[in-house]
Amino acid sequence: MKLEDMLNTITLGDSYKLIKEIPDNSIDLIYTDIPYLIICGGKGSSPLARRIDKICNTQLKNIKAGINYKILDEFIRVLKKVNIFIWCNKNQILDIMNCFQNYYCDILVWCKTNPAPNCNNNWISDIEYCLYFRENGIKLNDGYELKSKWFLSATNKDDKQKYKHPTIKPLELVKRHISHTTQENDIVLDCFSGSGTTCVAAKELGRQFIGIEVDPEYHKISLNRLNGILANRTNKH
Ligand SMILES: C[S@@+](CC[C@H](N)C(=O)[O-])C[C@H]1O[C@@H](n2cnc3c(N)ncnc32)[C@H](O)[C@@H]1O
Repeated sequence: MKLEDMLNTITLGDSYKLIKEIPDNSIDLIYTDIPYLIICGGKGSSPLARRIDKICNTQLKNIKAGINYKILDEFIRVLKKVNIFIWCNKNQILDIMNCFQNYYCDILVWCKTNPAPNCNNNWISDIEYCLYFRENGIKLNDGYELKSKWFLSATNKDDKQKYKHPTIKPLELVKRHISHTTQENDIVLDCFSGSGTTCVAAKELGRQFIGIEVDPEYHKISLNRLNGILANRTNKH
């Protein structure tokens, strides 16, 4: 598959394979939300713990196993300069930061104002982490709007209902990040595109984009979303 065939659309497939088709030094920004490394089970036998366990083993099948960190080398290869946002969970922060230790790093956070209750001896998980790495020469636009901490919830709840993805990220926040770190017509790559939030944000901002999603249902939802069509299925969560 050629770069042109992947440009400004979301391709159904495995990003570990498809990223090999992307030429060296061809991408301006990687903005991605990787499958989280979720350690299910062992959190007690309360009804809530059992429900979370069940969700982990069914609906979150493609989303809970983390990633193979070798893809991070591919990220560096395809980028013109390192300019990468990676949403991840706390179990992945250390490994990812180790892979990018030669670059500037910021930890950006989305503080959820409507977190799910927790069970058994854990802090409520009301923070989502987004690691941002860049190398010399990447300038941040719109400095006065730069915030590393966002308090949001309602938008995301609405989007979850509209696009049926359990880990959908807030479009407004994604747009802010992309507009701070790219120029018009730049190419933004998301290898784990889910319901297509990154691609929609890039499109609305006049950036080019490449999305890759392995789940056929999310792929269909995201293509429809790009064309302004809401998801109509109800069976995925
Ligand atoms: C955390 S979700 C992304 C959610 C997205 N940010 C949104 O707002 O909808 C990660 C996505 O990566 C997809 N995925 C997992 N493994 C993949 C692979 N090897 N290639 C492409 N997509 C993959 C999952 O199906 C899931 O939809």
